[in-house]
Amino acid sequence: MQRETWSSGAGFVLAAVGSAVGLGNMWRFSATAASTGGAGFVAVYVFMVLLIGLPLLLGELILGRRFQSSPVAALTRAVGRPGAALGWFFVLTAFVILAFYSVIAGWTFRYGLESIAGGWEGDLTEHFLAIATGPAAVLYHLLFMALTMMVVLWGIKGGIEKFASLATPVLFLILVGLGIWAAFLRGASEGYAFYLAPDLSVLADPAVWGAAAGQTYFSMSIGMGALLTYASYLRSSDKLATEAAVISVSDFAVAFMAGLVIFPIVFSLGMGDTIAAFGADEAEGVLFIALPAAFEQLGGTGYFVGVVFFLALILAALTSTISLMEVIVSTLIDSLSVSRRRATIGVGVCAGLIGVLPGMSLPALSMMNRFAGEFFLGFGAFAITLLVGWFMDDPRRELRAALGDRALMVNGWYFVMRWIAPLITGFVVVNMLQQYFAG
Ligand code: TRP
Repeated sequence: MQRETWSSGAGFVLAAVGSAVGLGNMWRFSATAASTGGAGFVAVYVFMVLLIGLPLLLGELILGRRFQSSPVAALTRAVGRPGAALGWFFVLTAFVILAFYSVIAGWTFRYGLESIAGGWEGDLTEHFLAIATGPAAVLYHLLFMALTMMVVLWGIKGGIEKFASLATPVLFLILVGLGIWAAFLRGASEGYAFYLAPDLSVLADPAVWGAAAGQTYFSMSIGMGALLTYASYLRSSDKLATEAAVISVSDFAVAFMAGLVIFPIVFSLGMGDTIAAFGADEAEGVLFIALPAAFEQLGGTGYFVGVVFFLALILAALTSTISLMEVIVSTLIDSLSVSRRRATIGVGVCAGLIGVLPGMSLPALSMMNRFAGEFFLGFGAFAITLLVGWFMDDPRRELRAALGDRALMVNGWYFVMRWIAPLITGFVVVNMLQQYFAG
């Protein structure tokens, strides 16, 4: 059977940006920045995106496009049996991330419906705790998984590309609109100050560099073959370098803008203390409490802003769960010759069942996040740099085709992949292990 393809290069980019832009940008980035060094963290993060995010992303795109198949088959063809093992490890990672991510996406889905139904009353902390875990959380997680399956079922062109071509631009427009609106709120500057207060001492803290690297992997969907899989549906004449740059810049822009929307809203309504009172680990959960509370206080405008804001979150989350599911579905299609229909249903049901665990227990959720969302990705990123930099057949071919004879860029990238990226990603793995054993 002929392999599916994107209908255009732009469709691929929109889908890839959709994969990258997700709850990681909207919640995790702003919460981390606000609680660790503000503008200092943003600076470290940007450096990490340029130094390892973008090069690694290019590495994944090259693997996908060259071998035109999903991770297991592509990595096997690149380096043989160890590649196959790494590919299956990616599938495992995808399952775990998909399962817990869908639970969080389920919360946002519920908040979105509630915002349409008229908002919230009573204590929002209690509300969050009540819906975050338990049968209701599982129900919304399953609903979200079903939405994801619906798009993946329709395939690359007819499902993923079509949906992302709509959702990704809408999400951008909403964020820009909200950012402009929020800038005029009284107290906006306090919000910016909280978000971006430059604490430059973080530049000297290795743990912050580790955290920034972890955030880079998660936010850019790197380290488990998601963008490799998307690139495998490119035609072999498609170029890669500009695409990688556009994906990286868009992903950062959305993360940065989300903070510019969230903190002015929260601070203009005096919810700042609620956020500041919680530590770094809790900051993400607190956003689920402080933002709806702010929307409530804003009355009619708040209703509108709340609906639109949660719509943006839901779209962002959905294009991300789609890419996670596609990694597994695509592997079953390529490596086990299952039909897309059966693969999608099977994967959706399995991930739905695995998600019952994080749906019933917050500690389980954060454990899965730590293992798969941080450590597995960190290890995956390290393995990919070694594979691309040292073991596969000259990866510069694709890049030369894209960049022509700009040898400096091609060789610069290759140097980073061989020497710098393995060192940094390796350091990050060690750093993560140390932290686990320390605490
Ligand atoms: N990048 C998404 C976010 O920021 C999450 C995500 C989607 C992801 N696909 C992935 C993370 C693959 C790691 C790997 O929310």
